[in-house]
Amino acid sequence: MADPKWRRSFIYRFIPTAILISAAFFIGSAFIVLDYKQKYSRLRVVDAVEMTKPNICENQCRPDGSEILPSGIVSRTSDLEMRPLWGPRNKKKSKSPMNLLAMAVGIKQKNNVNKTVMKFPANDFVIMLFHYDGMVDDWRDFEWSSRAIHVSAVHQTKWWFAKRFLHPDVVSEYAYIFLWDEDLGVENFNVARYLAIIKEEGLQISQPALDPRKSKVHHRLTARQKGSKVHRRIINSSVARKGCNANSTQPPCTGWVEMMAPVFSKASWRCAWYMIQNDLVHAWGLDFQLGYCAQGNRTQNIGIVDSEFLVHQGLPTLGGSAVNQKNTEAISEASQNGNLPNGGAMAPSVSHQPNTRDKVIKESYIELERFKNRWRKAVREDKCWAERISNH
Ligand SMILES: *[C@@H]1O[C@H](CO)[C@@H](O)[C@H](O)[C@H]1NC(C)=O
Ligand SMILES: *[C@@H]1O[C@H](CO)[C@@H](O)[C@H](O)[C@H]1NC(C)=O
Ligand SMILES: *[C@@H]1O[C@H](CO)[C@@H](O)[C@H](O)[C@H]1NC(C)=O
Ligand SMILES: *[C@@H]1O[C@H](CO)[C@@H](O)[C@H](O)[C@H]1NC(C)=O
Repeated sequence: MADPKWRRSFIYRFIPTAILISAAFFIGSAFIVLDYKQKYSRLRVVDAVEMTKPNICENQCRPDGSEILPSGIVSRTSDLEMRPLWGPRNKKKSKSPMNLLAMAVGIKQKNNVNKTVMKFPANDFVIMLFHYDGMVDDWRDFEWSSRAIHVSAVHQTKWWFAKRFLHPDVVSEYAYIFLWDEDLGVENFNVARYLAIIKEEGLQISQPALDPRKSKVHHRLTARQKGSKVHRRIINSSVARKGCNANSTQPPCTGWVEMMAPVFSKASWRCAWYMIQNDLVHAWGLDFQLGYCAQGNRTQNIGIVDSEFLVHQGLPTLGGSAVNQKNTEAISEASQNGNLPNGGAMAPSVSHQPNTRDKVIKESYIELERFKNRWRKAVREDKCWAERISNH
């Protein structure tokens, strides 16, 4: 080992090899770096292209199909305002933005619907009626009928109509959307006060409380609390984890309204509209998920207004949510008597069959299961959803 000759020859042979190897390595890595840089800059180019491509911002500026038009001519949204064929349009007297009252109605509830509509002043509300019994002309004797929008489709539900005729781009002018049943008692309801309260309280989704003495109340959360202005939760259990307590975050303890008289802000409606399924027309289960549309904390942004309240008559009509109630008492009672309350409200061809109601209820339960399964599947498949809601 100590042989200096061997060592010298090793050094002579080793050094050039080492130089060669490191040169090769250096050149190689230079190529790699170059390659990487090229790739990287290509990526950056792609990134840049993607940033300027359709994405969210561009979608807003250029709706599908409008790319070929100069953007200044594109009207993205519309409204339900009727226009005169000539001359100046009727100037709106109040300065606040318009709201919308939409109801699914049948002629049998005509008088009740009139009472409800009369509570919504023409200056602040567009009225839209969804006729599920095809009877449109019979409403003409009401003074307000000619300024209401009438949509008729036989045997369809409130949610079917809402999905098709209340597209968020068409109702984007309206600050609040009242999507109400036809069987509500409005004696103790003042819409101006109601609007003032939900604005002040920041309620994105709300409903007037139900008078528990006169209504069929299915969930204590929506029952009126006397002396209160607004409530957002109920507490019916002192034992943690049982019933509803101050820590509950979910329906039916908090963050929830029923479907007979919901009121949506513009933003929450935009979200809710997407949640309505085209084929699940009874919309069972939708109410429990609406909290996602609350534009933030559902326990804060969803509430029940106690000082303006309703009576829910609970008539089983397509325009009422008795069909949407898990309580089938009234219905089975009625079908036993062979006399459906308000049966004519459904199509005559259907209503004389005594078990129509039962069939509708059964279908609603089937839809509920479908909706739940669909929701679970959607959550499973959307890998980014959890992240999106936690950032929300
Ligand atoms: C509609 O309701 C209003 C207010 O309740 C009432 O004054 C009016 O007479 C009703 N109209 C008809 C045609 O019944
Ligand atoms: C609510 O949560 C807090 C903190 O976890 C707990 O101390 C309290 O006992 C809970 N209250 C009820 C009513 O469960
Ligand atoms: C509390 O209220 C909720 C919602 O109405 C109900 O589901 C639950 O059974 C009630 N719990 C108790 C202990 O009363
Ligand atoms: C929502 O609001 C409630 C009541 O103010 C609060 O206790 C809760 O922590 C809030 N939740 C979130 C997720 O911010």
